[in-house]
Amino acid sequence: MSLRSESYQLLSKIATNDQHGENSPYFDGWTAYKKNPFHPTTNPQGVIQMGLAENQLCFDLFEEWMKNNPKASICTPEGVHKFRDIANFQDYHGLPEFTSAMANYMSKVRGGRVRFDPNRILMSGGATGANELIMFCLADPGDAFLVPTPYYPAFLRDLCWRTKAQLIPVHCDSSNNFKITREALEASYKKAQEDNINVKGLIITNPSNPLGTTIEKETLKSIVSFINEKTIHLVCDEIYAATVFSSPSYVSVSEVIQEMKCNLNLIHIIYSLSKDLGFPGFRVGIVYSYNDEVVSCGRKMSSFGLVSTQTQYMLASMLSDEKFVDKFLLESSRRLSKRHEKFIKGLEEVNISRFPSNAGLFCWMNLKSLLKEETFEGELKLWRLIINEVKLNVSPGSSFNCSEVGWFRVCFANIDDETVEIALKRIRDFIGKETKKKVEVKRWQPNLRLSFTSRRFDESVLSPHNHIIISPHSPLVRAT
Ligand SMILES: Cc1ncc(COP(=O)(O)O)c(C=O)c1O
Repeated sequence: MSLRSESYQLLSKIATNDQHGENSPYFDGWTAYKKNPFHPTTNPQGVIQMGLAENQLCFDLFEEWMKNNPKASICTPEGVHKFRDIANFQDYHGLPEFTSAMANYMSKVRGGRVRFDPNRILMSGGATGANELIMFCLADPGDAFLVPTPYYPAFLRDLCWRTKAQLIPVHCDSSNNFKITREALEASYKKAQEDNINVKGLIITNPSNPLGTTIEKETLKSIVSFINEKTIHLVCDEIYAATVFSSPSYVSVSEVIQEMKCNLNLIHIIYSLSKDLGFPGFRVGIVYSYNDEVVSCGRKMSSFGLVSTQTQYMLASMLSDEKFVDKFLLESSRRLSKRHEKFIKGLEEVNISRFPSNAGLFCWMNLKSLLKEETFEGELKLWRLIINEVKLNVSPGSSFNCSEVGWFRVCFANIDDETVEIALKRIRDFIGKETKKKVEVKRWQPNLRLSFTSRRFDESVLSPHNHIIISPHSPLVRAT
């Protein structure tokens, strides 16, 4: 018996199925980076990691706080007197000081316009665990959740792999700024019904990963009306809530439901400290549900993924330091804005268009003009070129289930200023080379229209510096 068929008998279906979604370019890019990671002195030709949505711009503030607050850790002479109590605590309600600090912090991030009840806070291992936990509470195997595109590639793993629920895309596109319209929601819902699929809910990410935009209040209201009318759940993944760096300001679903009539039992928020604070290693995930039964069942389930009490204790102390939190929130947003400006200026210099954004740790850039063929295969070919030759790990739009080709997500907050400069230089050189190739093709084949690029040639002209200038009729202009 071959090892493969043997393992099919010995292991569970989950262990042997391929539905974790990790065999996508999104994760392949990370592998390429790991094999050859850039380092300014030891490996200057290595791959720069721009596929990782991490906020590493404020670590100096946290380190300073840790130095000034040695009591916050049970592993210091100043804090060790709490060691026994904390190491011994295992109640799945969490340390009361943690849930209460967390509720206050979540309120602060939303401008103090809403209050959160600490008793509704459920812990989990990051938003990854929180998203799975809420699915276990809301969906049976085979049930579906609608999800607007483009969406976070690991949703398949987090929401479906072990729960056996399924995702149904709600296709959104650049023609109306990827807005989640009532028509698109209705179309996906109707299609699911025709296919005899039981739709249990809708999951949205606000601010969006990968778009880096906040959802307008009116759109949120229309979404809440939609789920109310259908009596299906609304899960709002708000893990980028504090990454908003320019207007319009952030509106959480928690504010919207204060202003309109809706069945609160249908509303659930996912939160985590992985993005806003940049602590993915602490694995702090939160489910905040307005539904008592979900709170009760989810609490029991949270036993599988509690946040360590050591982490809870330290964070309770940090997050209840209001002065520090206020300073951090302001400074983090200022630094994100500065980094975003620097990065998009670099892209603009080589006329790379991008989707206008006001939040997040990434840019949604449009490289359609560089595709040799406007297909998803063409997009992957370009992505391979960027990974292997330009040595930048960016993520192709297809891995976010984007319905349009040519979009790429590029993260800008997980590297330092010098590495950003190097990445921008690589992009400049690459665009220059690609442009030169096009000029040469045009010069040597004056009578030939190239089928794969003809439309782009019609739409783009070259500036004196070999930059591609996009014509006003290009879809790229529409997208910006
Ligand atoms: C929208 C979204 N949800 C959930 C997660 C998972 O976050 P965590 O690290 O807290 O598990 C991510 C991570 O990138 C994300 O972008």
